[in-house]
Amino acid sequence: MAYETILVENRDAVALITINRPKALNALNALVFQELERALSAIDADEEIAAVVLTGSEKAFAAGADIKEMADLDFSAAYNTDYVAHWQNVTRHSKPIIAAVAGYALGGGCELAMMCDIVIAAENARFGQPEINLGTIPGAGGSQRLIREIGKSKAMEMILTGRMMNAEDAERANLVSRVVPLENLIDEALRIGNEIAQKSQPIVAMAKEAVNVAYETSLAEGLRFERRAFYATFATDDRAEGMTAFTEKRSARFSHR
Ligand code: CAA
Repeated sequence: MAYETILVENRDAVALITINRPKALNALNALVFQELERALSAIDADEEIAAVVLTGSEKAFAAGADIKEMADLDFSAAYNTDYVAHWQNVTRHSKPIIAAVAGYALGGGCELAMMCDIVIAAENARFGQPEINLGTIPGAGGSQRLIREIGKSKAMEMILTGRMMNAEDAERANLVSRVVPLENLIDEALRIGNEIAQKSQPIVAMAKEAVNVAYETSLAEGLRFERRAFYATFATDDRAEGMTAFTEKRSARFSHR
């Protein structure tokens, strides 16, 4: 499939998607999200692919929503088209998405990283929600997801001052799961993806769904959902194979059924 703003390639069982608008520091315009949606839908349908790595350039994962595209929007245009609502589609795909962040992840870029399931960062990564400097506020989840990731005080400070957080602080604040040298970033992200690819795909999808339910429901609802999903795994061949392999002291051979 041909794309203008992203590059998509398969590395073993992992799809590597690279946001590719270098002249605009990977600013996220409508086309980027249309193309991401097409690519992620194709990946969902591809049985050979088990996980996705989403990355940008060494200088910018994404420097935010495209300010030049937004500059002339008025309230009616933004509201009537629900301008950024479709960005959330990134979270609706079943295969795990690993954000590999180098350089700037600002505004919509930070929000996009937080929509992914795992975030790993290069040492030069910078996270921020600088919308306040543009006379606006985060619009694609920044004010909602950041507080869940790093807590109220840190989220407020970033959102109200527009100050950036470096990779080391982002790891300490649990915004990212690990920091690696820039030259190892993609290999490390692919390694995580290929490790996930060794598991049963439907069980991975169920695990991802269960973790994400925690974002949207109460603890009681979440625990109920988790138990239902846990019991559902007992209807799969892979659950039977996994436990049999354990008792026979061998590696499981999952059939993804
Ligand atoms: N939108 C559009 N273009 C952008 C952009 C953005 N978010 N960020 C950078 N660019 C463009 C610049 O306009 C510039 O283009 P030209 O060469 O044509 O002038 C090019 O990318 C390189 O940028 P700089 O010259 O500014 O590079 P720098 O290294 O000096 O600075 C930076 C880097 C600190 C990231 C700076 O570019 C910057 O502050 N960018 C804007 C960051 C921002 O405010 N993001 C939030 C956007 S709003 C949002 O995301 C809303 C939401 O929640 C949905």
